[in-house]
Amino acid sequence: MSSSGAGHSGAIALAQRHDRRAHPHPEWVAALTGASGPEVARALRDIDRHVAEETEIHQRLHDGGRSFYAQIRSPLDLYAIARLARPDAVVETGVSSGISSAHFLMALQDSRRGRLFSIDLPTRQRGPKLGARESPVSLPPGRSTGWAVPDRLRRRWDLRIGPSQTLLPGAATDAGTIGVFLHDSLHTPRHLAFELATIAPRLAPGAVVMADNTTWTGRAFDRFAESLGAPVVRCGRSDLVGLRVPTDGPPATGRRRTGRLRTTR
Ligand SMILES: C[S@@+](CC[C@H](N)C(=O)[O-])C[C@H]1O[C@@H](n2cnc3c(N)ncnc32)[C@H](O)[C@@H]1O
Repeated sequence: MSSSGAGHSGAIALAQRHDRRAHPHPEWVAALTGASGPEVARALRDIDRHVAEETEIHQRLHDGGRSFYAQIRSPLDLYAIARLARPDAVVETGVSSGISSAHFLMALQDSRRGRLFSIDLPTRQRGPKLGARESPVSLPPGRSTGWAVPDRLRRRWDLRIGPSQTLLPGAATDAGTIGVFLHDSLHTPRHLAFELATIAPRLAPGAVVMADNTTWTGRAFDRFAESLGAPVVRCGRSDLVGLRVPTDGPPATGRRRTGRLRTTR
């Protein structure tokens, strides 16, 4: 499987033109979903249905003063993962402009199934221009959480504003059985461990669990993976990691060894 991104057309080429970090990682998607190479390739090709949405996302970001696109690494992979996992519910923490949200919503729309539960405690840009010391995930003036998500994608979206410390337990309950989870909110070991412990009882067999910026979250994700007996799979050389919940449940005796699998860039 090639992950170079070379030769892509349509939505993938468009995404990469705006941000070269947006290239897909087919091997990562395959490892997390259990799908075959041709199935992953087909799911990534399906993004071509969304050239109009990708164009609108880039325009909205540009109008909001954000010159780049991939606030989450691998948004295209998130689309493919949600297509292949066919979840009844996707849960994510950390929305900002909504790049991850938009890609999950495109997948749910194409599968005609499932809802996205998103939680975000926004930070706000202080002035009309992003200050040198301010984070680009802050909301530009006049914008609200998810401001880059096209309106026509929002039908399957349950967006909740507030800290995931208080909102995640309720959202996880309302989600029912979670097929895909993404942590991209407060990146501390304690907070990631809290989020993973909160969603754990709701995870479907074979569910995909991902966390971004794990450089900052110590061993929280590894410990969770060990408790499930699942290997941690790293997306390329980044610190976006994931695992696939075993379809036969957690190991009955002791802990299985886990290991990091590296994918090609
Ligand atoms: C890295 S950004 C999310 C990027 C997003 N996933 C995307 O694809 O564009 C992190 C977001 O999490 C929010 N956040 C920080 N702490 C939070 C918390 N305790 N609960 C919920 N959201 C939080 C931040 O304000 C910010 O909007």
